[in-house]
Amino acid sequence: MTDKIAIIGFGNIAKAIITPLLDKNLIQPENVYCVVNSEKSLENIKKNYKYNINAYKSSSKDSKIIWDCQVKLLSVKPQHLEYISEADNMSNKDNFLVSILAGVSINRLTQKFPNHKCVRVVTNIPIIIGKGLTGIAWGENLTRDQKQFTKKLFENTSKIYEFTEDYLDIFLALTSSGPAIIALIIEALSDGGLSGGLPKILSEELIMEMILGTISLIKENQITPSEVKNLVTSPGGTTISALRVLENKSIRSALIESIVSASNRSKEFN
Ligand SMILES: NC(=O)c1ccc[n+]([C@@H]2O[C@H](COP(=O)([O-])OP(=O)(O)OC[C@H]3O[C@@H](n4cnc5c(N)ncnc54)[C@H](OP(=O)(O)O)[C@@H]3O)[C@@H](O)[C@H]2O)c1
Repeated sequence: MTDKIAIIGFGNIAKAIITPLLDKNLIQPENVYCVVNSEKSLENIKKNYKYNINAYKSSSKDSKIIWDCQVKLLSVKPQHLEYISEADNMSNKDNFLVSILAGVSINRLTQKFPNHKCVRVVTNIPIIIGKGLTGIAWGENLTRDQKQFTKKLFENTSKIYEFTEDYLDIFLALTSSGPAIIALIIEALSDGGLSGGLPKILSEELIMEMILGTISLIKENQITPSEVKNLVTSPGGTTISALRVLENKSIRSALIESIVSASNRSKEFN
């Protein structure tokens, strides 16, 4: 795929992106250069990471080597971006940086890394099991190879959507924050089962199977969510009784506002 790749911030998401590429031999461990902030994370990578990659602490002199790699994956938390700056004398001409930072705009990236062409990517946690969703917004003047490379980084672990940048904040709200919202719904519904006397583990299992079954029904029968609702809601029955409670508590509005709020928060990082 590439000779060398530098990874600035080798946390959960960076590992989920890079490990499958190492597993598939698409990149070699000796060509991966990563930098982390703490001694603890450095030791953890050296002792426990399944590949023997080059790893450095950000405060070490040796870590400057990452700026010699033409290709970089930026994966620190957005609030740590201010502590990263590109090297003074960049020798490479085709420097290229892929950022997965929530909300950080291409404009801000190119100001921060003036000697790089930049791509802004939003991905989500299910990439860990190869079921992610990845949205990509291209910066200016990227070569065909650089675009191909970016897609290769994510195509093993996710479905890829190419967007203009203005879609990325709402894409992030739905797909990146979405797993936490769904997890909260699973937790709450399973507490409902618990309240009705079911053991917690059974209650959780039933909720998850029910959700998977509902999604399959919608997809396989090509029907809408409203049609499913109508299918199971009979006059004066149990389901309309449950839905009435949810409508009374403004659940639709709460869910809509949760997505709008996540998107607005992402815009604040721009
Ligand atoms: N979590 C998600 O669901 C998700 C989904 C999509 C995108 N993202 C984005 O992915 C990015 C990373 O998230 P994550 O969940 O992987 O975070 P994480 O696990 O906390 O990883 C962050 C990494 O950045 C390192 N770091 C911190 N300061 C640094 C510095 N000055 N120089 C070099 N490395 C530094 C940390 O090192 P130490 O461990 O030593 O501090 C750690 O390795 C975030 O920007 C987030 O917006 C996250």
